[in-house]
Amino acid sequence: MTIQWFPGHMTKARRQIQEKLKLIDAVIELTDARLPLSSRNPMIDEILQGKPRLIILNKADLADPEVTRQWLSYFKEEGHTSFPVDASTGTGLKEIPNQVRLLLKDKIDKQIAKGMKPRPVRVLIVGIPNVGKSTLINRLAGRSIAATGDRPGVTKGQQWIKVSGGDMELLDTPGILWPKFEDQNVGYRLAVTGAIREEILNVEDIAFFAIKYFSRYYWKDMSERFELKEQPTDFDNPDEIVALMEAIGRKRGCMMSGGRVDLEKASSIFLRELRAGKMGRFSLEAPY
Ligand code: G4P
Repeated sequence: MTIQWFPGHMTKARRQIQEKLKLIDAVIELTDARLPLSSRNPMIDEILQGKPRLIILNKADLADPEVTRQWLSYFKEEGHTSFPVDASTGTGLKEIPNQVRLLLKDKIDKQIAKGMKPRPVRVLIVGIPNVGKSTLINRLAGRSIAATGDRPGVTKGQQWIKVSGGDMELLDTPGILWPKFEDQNVGYRLAVTGAIREEILNVEDIAFFAIKYFSRYYWKDMSERFELKEQPTDFDNPDEIVALMEAIGRKRGCMMSGGRVDLEKASSIFLRELRAGKMGRFSLEAPY
């Protein structure tokens, strides 16, 4: 799903989340493990108004494990609890209720000290489109839930989903936030993963960005797949990157009349293979 975010939509999305904050004890902020900063909302701290928060790096199955470890250290240094999951298979999800309760330990301990039976902790999942909110909710619920409400402006009655034997309750509709559009590289990173449609950013520009990044950080994976000979010596020289795009196009038979390479076709094929995991696991930004 791609949402065209206009200022009015952002205000509405923000208001909807802030309405929901009144109902819950903690927030699960979902990010994409391949780009944990670029897949966050730029105003998240302000929007959440200090609600206890767990940061989840989803799609960890697709990310570079070494870089994911670095991100976990980074978030720890920032004072946040974060951990990687794969919502599509459910790996790591068992940890969520435990971590949420840990986050709310003081509050729960106070209830116990007053002789009260702790009530289930109530949680809201938030994140930008395509980070896996619906997948996570459905996995936690053990059935298909988050289909209708998953758009700004679409409202329905609040429903609570019991998780972890009733210890935790999840709001069935996630809070949808917008990404940080102002930074062009953020847009490209999101587009490489397929989170922004190619009608919005040019497919050749997206592939150029990805090929440049892979030349630098994942040369082995890319060069082996497309039998590329020489790693660029100057990553900032566009000619060297375009030469690679042409080599990739030739390898995949993307030829036009006169022996020229069809760069648009080559770009689409490259991105399709990348997203399908044909070049292995990768991350598009690292903290250090
Ligand atoms: P959203 O609600 O935040 O917008 O995201 P959604 O759950 O719709 O997930 C977006 C895409 O990401 C889906 O793929 C989903 O299957 C995939 N996804 C979610 N979590 C994970 C994960 O942990 N690992 C991997 N590898 N993929 C994940 P899609 O191609 O859009 O849909 P579909 O082919 O699954 O139907």
